[in-house]
Amino acid sequence: MKNSPIGIFDSGIGGLTVAHALKEQMPNESIIYFGDTKHLPYGEKSEESIVNFSTKISKFLVNQNCKAIVIACNSASSVAFDVVKKEAKNISVFNVIDPVIKEVVKVCADYNIGVIGTKATIKSNVYEHKIIKLCNSSKVSSLATPLLAPMIEEGFINEDISHTVIANYLSNKKLANIDHLILACTHYPLIHQEIKDYYNGKVTVIDSANIVAKYIAKQLEEDDLLNTRELTEHHFYVSNYTESFEKSARFFFQEEIQLKEINPH
Ligand code: DGL
Repeated sequence: MKNSPIGIFDSGIGGLTVAHALKEQMPNESIIYFGDTKHLPYGEKSEESIVNFSTKISKFLVNQNCKAIVIACNSASSVAFDVVKKEAKNISVFNVIDPVIKEVVKVCADYNIGVIGTKATIKSNVYEHKIIKLCNSSKVSSLATPLLAPMIEEGFINEDISHTVIANYLSNKKLANIDHLILACTHYPLIHQEIKDYYNGKVTVIDSANIVAKYIAKQLEEDDLLNTRELTEHHFYVSNYTESFEKSARFFFQEEIQLKEINPH
């Protein structure tokens, strides 16, 4: 089991930001990545569809002998975590939400926490529920920012268009009094700096990929599940291959990778 791969899935290639952070944190681990490019964007899908896709992908990763499953997608983490956990009952299942919330409310205080993500993530209200459960003196204000993921995928970052779209969303009155902002989407690590620049130090901007990677590494170590070999083997699968996905994959994973098409659905 220890030397089995970690399975990671997302609606597409954005989850490669999480895969990259995991690889940096645990260089000895093998990764099987699955991006459901055939069905993206999950952020625009119904809860039922996201649960259905996530269940099938989890079965695929279990069949690949993964020792753990990481739901890298915020939209899927929001609505499908419990179902995936049930499906993959003998292995650890991680989402990208709980580690971030635990980190933010470590010092439970009367924070005013903003959350931005896809429509599915924001509609689920999962951040608010989980934060208030751990720290009821906090206030949570959420805003769906659906244009950000496609904007990033098209490479619009650090330029006039992205500055304008980001400023437009972040100036929404729902986020007027926040002191923390959670970036609740796979794609947003790529605009972390731009968002930080927008706030100019006035808001703590929380980027989840590294927090999630550290949390999973610690958890696997505690469960004595870290790989004991130095030989790693990574596989990157998508449900629909295009050259443009492969090009974007490089951008999200920060190194050259090859995508293979496979269909667990
Ligand atoms: N991976 C999705 C998320 O983190 C963003 C892209 C999509 O909507 O599929 O919520």
